[in-house]
Amino acid sequence: MPQGELLLDTDTDATLQQVVQQALSEKSPSAIIATGDLVHGGGTPVYRRFLSIIAEHCNAPLLCLPGNHDLAAEMREAELPMQSLTLGTWSVVGLDSHEDDVPKANIDAAKRDALLRHWSEQTVRFALLATHHPLLSIGSPWLDKDRIADPESLMDALIAASGPQFAGAVFGHAHQVVQGHYCHRPLLGTPSTAFQFLPRSEKFSTDQRPPGYRWLTLDDDGHIHSQVRWLN
Ligand SMILES: [Fe+2]
Repeated sequence: MPQGELLLDTDTDATLQQVVQQALSEKSPSAIIATGDLVHGGGTPVYRRFLSIIAEHCNAPLLCLPGNHDLAAEMREAELPMQSLTLGTWSVVGLDSHEDDVPKANIDAAKRDALLRHWSEQTVRFALLATHHPLLSIGSPWLDKDRIADPESLMDALIAASGPQFAGAVFGHAHQVVQGHYCHRPLLGTPSTAFQFLPRSEKFSTDQRPPGYRWLTLDDDGHIHSQVRWLN
């Protein structure tokens, strides 16, 4: 948000600061994945402030995904890092599921082909897909209508692709904990660093849960361990 403005009564700068501080007091991450909707208006200066809040606390590599509230040109102008990450035997491969000013996920044929090409170029053993929109139904119609269409076909293509094994996926957008599976691969939605939505709500409803974040541990054998944490 523009500096000093609240979103749903939340100072999203302050909650981001608190989340980063608490997470880093627990352990040092090898990387940070920001799963989109990094700002809600305010333009390039807000993206720069987002980057500076992270950099103030941590110099781990950062992967930023665009969400439906993000604008691609502003993210580029602010030089947000949007390249896939290599971490030992793993890659974290980003998929841009957003279209500027449109709530619904958009993965057209060109994006899908580019993802599969990029995937097959990875020289590691395992890869985690990181995107903004959910890859499964979460039981809230008002959110589910905007999820990635036909995610099974996309994930089947990743499972069949040459390159690393598709080990699972992480995403944002849902502002709640999501823990699903596809063909034994975990599909993990991370809570928001600002405010949460009420699980299984028919229409837009916020939850009383505090800001949150998710730790991911990527094992050498291809397994993903994960734990959600809430701001104290
Ligand atoms: Fe979103």
